[in-house]
Amino acid sequence: MSASRRDCLRLAAAALAAAIPVRPSADAMPTADECAAGGAFARPLATAQPRVVVDSPLTLRATKDGEALAYATSLRDRAYVNPTLVLRRNSTFAATLVNALDEPTVTHWHGLSVDTRNDGNGEALVAPGERFDYSFAVRNRAALYWYHPHPHGATARQIYRGLFGLIEVEDDDEIALRRALDLVPGSTQLNLVVTDRRAGDADRYAPAPEDELLGWYGCLPQVNGVLRPFHEVTRRRHRLRILNAANARTIRLAFRRDDGMALPFLLAGTDGGLLERFVACREVLVSPAERVDIVIDFGDMSAGGFAVMESRAFKPMQDVPAAASTDAGHAHRVSVAMNDGAPFDLMQFRVRGGAMTSPPLPAQLSTLPPVPATSGDERPFRLGFAKGRWRINDRVYDMTATAVEVARGARETWILRNYFTSAPHAMHLHGFQFHVLERETSPDEVAKLAVDARGRLATDLGMKDTVLVWPGESVRIAIDFATAASEPQIFLLHCHNLEHEDAGMMLRIRVT
Ligand code: C2O
Ligand code: CU
Repeated sequence: MSASRRDCLRLAAAALAAAIPVRPSADAMPTADECAAGGAFARPLATAQPRVVVDSPLTLRATKDGEALAYATSLRDRAYVNPTLVLRRNSTFAATLVNALDEPTVTHWHGLSVDTRNDGNGEALVAPGERFDYSFAVRNRAALYWYHPHPHGATARQIYRGLFGLIEVEDDDEIALRRALDLVPGSTQLNLVVTDRRAGDADRYAPAPEDELLGWYGCLPQVNGVLRPFHEVTRRRHRLRILNAANARTIRLAFRRDDGMALPFLLAGTDGGLLERFVACREVLVSPAERVDIVIDFGDMSAGGFAVMESRAFKPMQDVPAAASTDAGHAHRVSVAMNDGAPFDLMQFRVRGGAMTSPPLPAQLSTLPPVPATSGDERPFRLGFAKGRWRINDRVYDMTATAVEVARGARETWILRNYFTSAPHAMHLHGFQFHVLERETSPDEVAKLAVDARGRLATDLGMKDTVLVWPGESVRIAIDFATAASEPQIFLLHCHNLEHEDAGMMLRIRVT
């Protein structure tokens, strides 16, 4: 047994002892040989991610166990690790973060519209041994959100090492959909968290300069912490809510039946909640931090058959101006593919016998907030690379820099323009869900997926907090800057490729 394999097992044993439910068991700990593409679906999906209905103040302890980090909490005398927090819309959420790490951290509630004090944007940190009290009204629509650390420069490392969890906001539309489709969380309705890991010491984060530039890609895709899991399903509709929690990897999500045919699905929702109605899809692109809410029907499949959830091949479009050189005028370019865009299998659904009765689909799922009618000029944001750094409007993040100023209550149209020689950037805005209005000059592979004359993708039809902008592409978004706060607030706009973010592809927005 090699030293690294032994280390793997030791770490796996430690992880198991800590009873971290989303971690692989010793058996599931990946080894270098497993990096070869493909492989069997040998391990069951971990569905044990505890859903915790939060109706009283919570204490989240950021804890460390070897290389693995996790949030630990206890509620009603039960202990949980990285729990899925179930929050009711319009309730008040209160939590105390206790930093039991040996480094600063802070928790950001990704997608939730809260004030700067509660946003955990990293401009104020919680030192080791310290605590911080969060308290805010849950104003967002029902959807899958997530919580994760945001200490600038260390966000990628802390998330990769396991410090994050899911948030489910519930409202009447959500309950109605679940009733209409007779869905049971944990059974016919699953949360699936996609990550990619490196072989060997699975929680170790040690990026080389190339990783820092392009992003930290692993060759081992996991779902809920398990490499290529299987899950048994009955012959009926299931709802899957999927978060891409990978540091850098985008997935081109699709389903393939055992006969090799594509299994289409319905898109029900996006980052910020349900669509107005289902949209039939064969595939969707899901960049880091994006969520998709889908309904898939296994009713036409035969018992004993299976379907594979996969990421199809796509052009990575990572065309970075000479990385090794900080000379801005350098004409030489390196085209770096890594293995971004490589196809791989994510998990397998094994179809069993059983009831084939799925209730009929509801025609209307929800009502979207109106697209804000914008006044004034569009605000441009250029995404690009210069002097060895990814930049927004030619700048890198500086928490003392003057922010872009937006008037509270303003309704703005922003245009996110990515240079042709660039990389895809998953642009995330704190504090506000937005509408995608239009995509222009999209790469052919992306344009092919457009569902309307404005070049929008199916995932652009719902509320968004993260939008992938491809090289050469311009994406117009509309934002309503209504906030509950009466004081000026700082929010962040950044790329959610965590290595791009940590290297400064982030900008301050001050809502006055
Ligand atoms: Cu999910 Cu500023 O981050
Ligand atoms: Cu980026």
